[in-house]
Amino acid sequence: METRAVYPGSFDPVTNGHIDLIQRSSALFDKVIVAILRNAEKTPLFSIEERTEMLEEAIRDLKNVSVVSFAGLLVDFAEQIGASVIVRGIRAISDYEFELQMALMNRRLSSKVETVFMLPAESYSYLSSRLVKEIAQHGGVIRGLVPMEVEKRLNSKFRNK
Ligand code: PNS
Repeated sequence: METRAVYPGSFDPVTNGHIDLIQRSSALFDKVIVAILRNAEKTPLFSIEERTEMLEEAIRDLKNVSVVSFAGLLVDFAEQIGASVIVRGIRAISDYEFELQMALMNRRLSSKVETVFMLPAESYSYLSSRLVKEIAQHGGVIRGLVPMEVEKRLNSKFRNK
């Protein structure tokens, strides 16, 4: 039977660290569903449509990866799409506490889904969407941290160059 993994997140915007994890997951699982959270509470920089477009562009060459958005509980969504694995990235020990809490809570909510933690390449271990946005906002160099399409969109949002 094929193993489907869901890789959830805000992806506001997708970074090269996310892409690195998607590539690693795509080599490991039969199907990877990148799931963007539709969260009414947070005010994102990019709309769901923009985030979907940027992700789709970035994963174009990975044939077993698709991009969707979801609302509500992650475990419910995972069950709906037949995913038995939740993939989450851990960059540094500081991520671990929150990720452990989420994984154990998700396990309590559903015994059908297992969380798998993966490490991105070391060069992305200090990378986050929040930092990339902050750097772009102040006109700093983000080349190499995000896909080209994302760099373009960030620069045009903040009217850099
Ligand atoms: O990229 P992020 O913001 O770290 O992703 C967080 C995400 C989307 C994985 C998390 O907020 C989530 O799963 N939200 C869906 C609601 C849910 O299931 N909450 C209970 C988690 S224990």
